[in-house]
Amino acid sequence: MRTKLVAGNWKMHGSLTANETLLSALKAGLAAGVGCESAVCVPFPFLTQVQALLQGSPIGWGAQDVSEHAKGAYTGEVSASMLREFGCGYVLVGHSERRAMHGEDSRLVARKMRAAQAASLVPILCVGETLAQREGGVTEDVVTEQIGAVIEELGVGSLACAVIAYEPVWAIGTGKTASPEQAQTVHATIRGFVAGRDQALAEQLRIVYGGSVKAGNAAELFAMPDIDGGLVGGASLDANEFLGICAAAGQ
Ligand code: PGA
Repeated sequence: MRTKLVAGNWKMHGSLTANETLLSALKAGLAAGVGCESAVCVPFPFLTQVQALLQGSPIGWGAQDVSEHAKGAYTGEVSASMLREFGCGYVLVGHSERRAMHGEDSRLVARKMRAAQAASLVPILCVGETLAQREGGVTEDVVTEQIGAVIEELGVGSLACAVIAYEPVWAIGTGKTASPEQAQTVHATIRGFVAGRDQALAEQLRIVYGGSVKAGNAAELFAMPDIDGGLVGGASLDANEFLGICAAAGQ
């Protein structure tokens, strides 16, 4: 039985004041527990605030990126052990915005994942195809290359303490959600790919869906057998939306 995970990806949004309002609404809404795991992945400067406000609540937190290096002369980078000091449980690695805008390839993403795990963070490994790749019929090749690089670098066992987020690039921030069937097909492909290396691990592995998840479409996505929750961008900035998504995941 895989417990569903709903993780918010705030991206480069938020302010101390807005975060306080959002987080107190989330804490109130999730205080009684809703039968899923929840977390928010926030910009680095807000980690102190998030740690102070969420400590002792059922909501976890994390960052959106991490350095592949443990420490040293890497101006602007943030290490996994630093994130750990701020109580992070999770960190996103390989988000498509970082792959596209910061030139992160699958090998670098794998090394970031190694750094995260070395500091006991759970990496949320983001994978997904662009519209051109989907239309070109190479969705499966793209996601298996992205996951395959991690397996080659770190071994399949690294996925035991990780979450995979399938996020079709064409569905991110566009309002165009993959249909539950489209998402399920890719989730099943991913699980099958991992099962080819380790069946038991694949059955335990949480594969969450991301790309325009909202309170209004979450339930039908989460009803799919291989969709184990969501990675939520835009809708994670709205307390009612995020709580509605968590409620759908807890059903
Ligand atoms: P979205 O973003 O929910 O706004 O589409 C998802 C993500 O990029 O993680």
